[in-house]
Amino acid sequence: ALPRDLEGLRVVVSAGGTREPLDPVRFLGNRSSGKQGYALARVAAQRGAEVTLVAGHGNELPAPAGTDVRHVSTALEMRDAVHEAAAAADVVIMAAAVADFRPATRVEYKIKKTDDQPDPAITLERNPDILAELVENRKIGQTIVGFAAETGDEHAGVLDHARAKLKRKGCDLLVVNAVGDGRAFEVEENQGWLLSADGAERPIPLGSKSHLAATVWDAVAEFIKR
Ligand code: C5P
Repeated sequence: ALPRDLEGLRVVVSAGGTREPLDPVRFLGNRSSGKQGYALARVAAQRGAEVTLVAGHGNELPAPAGTDVRHVSTALEMRDAVHEAAAAADVVIMAAAVADFRPATRVEYKIKKTDDQPDPAITLERNPDILAELVENRKIGQTIVGFAAETGDEHAGVLDHARAKLKRKGCDLLVVNAVGDGRAFEVEENQGWLLSADGAERPIPLGSKSHLAATVWDAVAEFIKR
């Protein structure tokens, strides 16, 4: 049986990818499956936490037992749902693949190809960084965890990148996933590093997304205790 070491904690986990509409039938999206975020939510509930899962798009995954799932589509919807849930949360984990940009205009009709007009161009506008906003509005005692997907390996500067990102984002813990070469996205297993704002760093060996989730919650529990 799992420890009930997260009993009494209210946690928010975001998962999956956002979709940014171009017109009524098209969107810009990404390859996030949502599996890592769902695993984090499921493991937290199993360990006794009260869990809100803010779920974007991904595989059609069943709601993890004992969690309150809020489905969202765009980055702006995810932002509203995360901030609403975070207002009363002890821990927020941003595992979602939030689109950095959205089409600047959402056309109200289906974009058509025409012979007398030039082909359309897509102008992008920056989405808010939800993680940075969480850090800015942090409640006292709230623990904030970010994810970073980086290509390459530790020798190719992934860790340097990740250290810089942890500082820049101001979160307490950063989970770094090594991606590319078929890693992390749309697969069952994950690997990487867990960086803490106090300088602690540990590798997360290749394992299931549930295993990574357990490692992250161990680190969160440890972080809260100090
Ligand atoms: O900067 P980058 O996109 O690599 O940062 C990833 C982290 O920031 C993830 O935790 C992701 O959920 C979060 N993020 C966010 N809002 C954005 C973009 C990323 O909260 N607009």
